Amino acid sequence: MLAIRLLAQPDRLDVLALPVRPVTGAESPAEPVPVAAALPDGVADEAVALAPAARLAGTPGEVWTQVRPGGVPGRLLLLGVGAGDETAWRKAGAALARTAKDESHVTLALPADAPAAAVRGLVEGLLLASYRFRLGADEKAPALAAVDVLVADPAAYADAVDVARTTAAMTRLARDLVNMPSSVKNPEWFAGQVADATAELPDLHLRVRAPHDLAAEGFGGILAVGSGSASGPRLVELDWRPADARTHVVLVGKGITFDTGGISIKPVPAMKLMRKDMAGAAAVVAATLGAAALRLPVRVTTLAPLAENMVSGSAFRPGDIVRHYGGVTSETTNSDAEGRLVLADALAYAVRELRPDVLIDLATLTGANAVALGKRTGALYSENDRLAGDVLAAVEAAGEAAWRMPLPADYVEYLGSDLADLYSAPTQGAGSVVAALYLREFTGELRDRWVHVDMSAPSWSDGDDAELTRGATGWGVRSLLRWLATLA
Ligand code: BES
Ligand code: MN
Ligand code: ZN
Repeated sequence: MLAIRLLAQPDRLDVLALPVRPVTGAESPAEPVPVAAALPDGVADEAVALAPAARLAGTPGEVWTQVRPGGVPGRLLLLGVGAGDETAWRKAGAALARTAKDESHVTLALPADAPAAAVRGLVEGLLLASYRFRLGADEKAPALAAVDVLVADPAAYADAVDVARTTAAMTRLARDLVNMPSSVKNPEWFAGQVADATAELPDLHLRVRAPHDLAAEGFGGILAVGSGSASGPRLVELDWRPADARTHVVLVGKGITFDTGGISIKPVPAMKLMRKDMAGAAAVVAATLGAAALRLPVRVTTLAPLAENMVSGSAFRPGDIVRHYGGVTSETTNSDAEGRLVLADALAYAVRELRPDVLIDLATLTGANAVALGKRTGALYSENDRLAGDVLAAVEAAGEAAWRMPLPADYVEYLGSDLADLYSAPTQGAGSVVAALYLREFTGELRDRWVHVDMSAPSWSDGDDAELTRGATGWGVRSLLRWLATLA
């Protein structure tokens, strides 16, 4: 990970970045922002002249590179920072990491009055945009190894940097897990990764249930979905239990390490990216590790039901009836609606055995998420206006996106089955909505303290975009950590 230091005095001035912002109503569109640090002679005046000459607008994402042969600095970067808030600085940090990828070291002077939130956004942007996933040698890896940030009082920003660094590290961990090919990433491997990460942090408790444990306790949904695979299913239960916690949150994440669709097999284009079908599990695990690393005073128990949805002679069949944890049964005529089957077990277990104050699940549940809301926005469901509002506010503050969706009564009838308690794969109604209504049936007493987010769309990015890099986005880690911090 890129090394970031906060300094009061520059250590090196080979490449210097200065913030510029838009000026409304003035003749020149952008102006440099006054910075805390003393600059080499003439550099401040040069930046003032350069901003209009380079026709800079000062918007976040914009970077101008001025080459100064023989000068100190040898390169002067003008970095658009817009309104200078956290979101703008996150974008600016991402743009700086990309533009300066071939430099080895950059010094950035911050505005004299930069709020701590600006530093948080900057650090997240730098660390998230410089993320790369590679198996094997990476000749084109960015050279940028260190960024020094000049501020008047480094100690004033230490907490903001710490939170941003942990948030970014956990988001990067989630991206690593989601990007990993499914030839490596089976349920056992995923559980092993959680064990490795857990071992580095105190006061975390991990229990991993193997297939025989799942059978003994009646986790029929997880077992059915995992039955077609040579790699058996697992249930990860990770508990962050600080002594000073007043609230207990249970997080549940869909962990299908590959989704072929099962006997109801997916066509080639739809199956191509199904290694990402455990992005919900990756996000809730990483957020829980983050809560422990930051020692947030809230109890978090995370459940990750892990299974590989495969086609084989032992696979579950369309038309099978599955008995979930706690005894509710589902008739399932489409083995591609597997996510809700594993989530149902985990939700039922959480409600019956863990009895939390709040229950939140994240899942790459339906292709319909993208149909309704596009590529970047999760579909959020809850019966609780206040809880939904709090989570949505955290999502927005974190720089992610979600949109609240309804749980309409007129679709509930589609969940009816003649043979079982529920029908898991209705073909009528809006796909993401009906899936949410199905999950709600397993929330019991927590029905109005439950949030479900269908995050299939934003879990993946087709290309580099601000702090997102091509591939897994780690969606949800930032939002969950934000929200958990508000419970502290
Ligand atoms: N993992 C998929 C959903 C998905 C689709 C995620 C595209 C990301 C991108 C899920 O298991 C699934 O197959 N859902 C079906 C549900 C249907 C069979 C009721 C879907 O969305 O088509
Ligand atoms: Mn599926
Ligand atoms: Zn799936």
